[in-house]
Amino acid sequence: MRRTASLRTMTEETVLRPADLIAPLFVVDGKPAPEEIASMPGVFRLNIADLVKECRALAKLGVPAVALFPKLDPGLKDDEGTHALDEETLVLRAVRAVKRAVPGMTVITDVALDPYTSHGHDGVLNAMRSDVENDRTVGLLAKMAVLQAQAGVDLVAPSDMMDGRVGAIRRALDAAGYTGVGIMAYSVKFNSAYYGPFREAVGSAKAAGTTLLSKATYQMNPANRREALVEAALDVAEGADIIMVKPAGPYLDIIREVRNATKKPVAAYQVSGEYAQLHAAARLGWLDLPRTRHESLLAIKRAGADMILTYFAKDMATVLRASR
Ligand code: PBG
Repeated sequence: MRRTASLRTMTEETVLRPADLIAPLFVVDGKPAPEEIASMPGVFRLNIADLVKECRALAKLGVPAVALFPKLDPGLKDDEGTHALDEETLVLRAVRAVKRAVPGMTVITDVALDPYTSHGHDGVLNAMRSDVENDRTVGLLAKMAVLQAQAGVDLVAPSDMMDGRVGAIRRALDAAGYTGVGIMAYSVKFNSAYYGPFREAVGSAKAAGTTLLSKATYQMNPANRREALVEAALDVAEGADIIMVKPAGPYLDIIREVRNATKKPVAAYQVSGEYAQLHAAARLGWLDLPRTRHESLLAIKRAGADMILTYFAKDMATVLRASR
């Protein structure tokens, strides 16, 4: 059944579509030109005008959704992430601009404090500064989610891994009248070294004055599989609409387990380090970028992901459209 191209197509089990892809995009304020992120070739921090252009281009290619990540001026950060609750903060202005210009685009925003805290953690710290303070953080996240809903997002995406935040966000959204705003929960988010380039992109590692910022007290231990199912089940019970596993490529077994355990849609996030490693190997001439890119995404879909957040979204959608 592999003898000819038509037989291979007939027996193909997994097909990647532009509609499977979600593009994570980085936003900055006021920079006239896009700034390329050193460890992520082809990925830029965009000002709002360029972000809108990028969203138009993605919509034309059939990519249905974008996930926005702000990079803030260090002067706006403090220990408490105070600026996260500012009604005119960068990401909220970006959401309004995108929804105005490309209303059909699904816009997703991160709910976590790391772009706003001077230490780069996803939450506020306890009095001893020894760990994040879960419950106080959850209260702030719920307020942040309501502001994002007010700005017009379709889905809020808590990426902080605090306990109980999905339920708190659902209640806060409903109480504020945003019953139609969904929750894409970063349910199974590992304490991964593959987030390195992202932290450079949003300046959350530098903010802490170290690249060794540990989130081990709230993100999952990469050694654990059963715990992933516990995390997914809790988020479903608390009202999550989409369950995410992150990173994707090194955790295909987890994607499959979660796919089998829930009836909710499953998302997987092919993170910055997964993108960086393929580009780095390709630059050295050691790997073929178009083929490894396609294969890496196909594997994530085959493992059970219904949708994939990937920095390859635009390039992949371009290729998929051309080869139809
Ligand atoms: C932070 C957040 C991170 C990513 C998305 N949201 C990094 C972290 O937890 O430090 C990583 C994405 C990537 O590496 O592409 N809330």
